[in-house]
Amino acid sequence: MSDPDDIKFNVDEAQDFAKDFGLLDESAPPVEVQGLSSRFGDRVIHENLNLTVKRGEVLGVVGGSGSGKSVLLNTIIGLKVPNGGSVKLFGQNIDHASRRKWKAIERRWGVMFQQGALFSNLTVRENVAAPLFEHTKLSRQEIWDLADLKIGMAGLAVTSGTLKPSELSGGMRKRAGLARALALDPELLFLDEPTSGLDPIGAAAFDELIQDLSDSLSLTVFMITHDLDTLYAITDRVAVIADKTVVAVAPVRALERSEHPWIKDYFLGPRGRAAARTPTKIGHR
Ligand SMILES: Nc1ncnc2c1ncn2[C@@H]1O[C@H](COP(=O)(O)OP(=O)(O)OP(=O)(O)O)[C@@H](O)[C@H]1O
Ligand SMILES: [Mg+2]
Repeated sequence: MSDPDDIKFNVDEAQDFAKDFGLLDESAPPVEVQGLSSRFGDRVIHENLNLTVKRGEVLGVVGGSGSGKSVLLNTIIGLKVPNGGSVKLFGQNIDHASRRKWKAIERRWGVMFQQGALFSNLTVRENVAAPLFEHTKLSRQEIWDLADLKIGMAGLAVTSGTLKPSELSGGMRKRAGLARALALDPELLFLDEPTSGLDPIGAAAFDELIQDLSDSLSLTVFMITHDLDTLYAITDRVAVIADKTVVAVAPVRALERSEHPWIKDYFLGPRGRAAARTPTKIGHR
């Protein structure tokens, strides 16, 4: 008969293997930031910042310009090393992840950066295909077909695939960035100012697209935005960054009643009052 210890070892090993490929720990929140501190030299950006993104929610992230929203995003996806505290993605501390584990985690999220960050010398189709070439072993034809599919999902005509980023309008560039973020069928989508620079109609259409995608693909969305209409229309909760930390996380309607000075100014200013008249996501349901 086999030694029970041997069996235990094999089970542990199998669990580790499964974890590497993201098959376990599905109960962990997609993002868990605890006690984060971030600095650039002497400049402190975050101090003891805590934030959990729940599975399946659309979380809006707001804060003044320079409050550290993009730095938070960069830290969560491993582009900046925390100066203190921890970041967990799908229950895995990203600092302690092996290369193989990190690769497996990396496949589960997609990001659309504030500046677009498309490769300027590649076409839209090549940009969208890039993560597929890097992370999958699919055939070239399968990759091109998938890239076209994602381009369509992001609301672009497939013919735009042959254009370079410099040949796109601002709104098309946002959609191309979204198509690339969706390339690997992520469960978790990071968006940094997805509607900035769009006209109100373009912004509303983009909100609707994010809402449709998050519903149909059961995505968890972490969305940095200045856009109050977006907050009311598509978020489940909103996290507010001020004073180097997250000062509140709540549904947008609850934030309207906050006593925090920055939140008060933000929601009770003229733009806030106008946006508050639009129905909320919760109100729609
Ligand atoms: N690589 C860097 N080196 C030094 N300082 C940086 C770096 N990146 C960001 N910062 C500083 O960190 C602070 C927060 O920047 P961040 O980009 O996170 O702001 P933000 O909240 O995203 O603002 P915005 O709404 O304008 O996009 C800023 O003061 C910025 O100058
Ligand atoms: Mg930013």
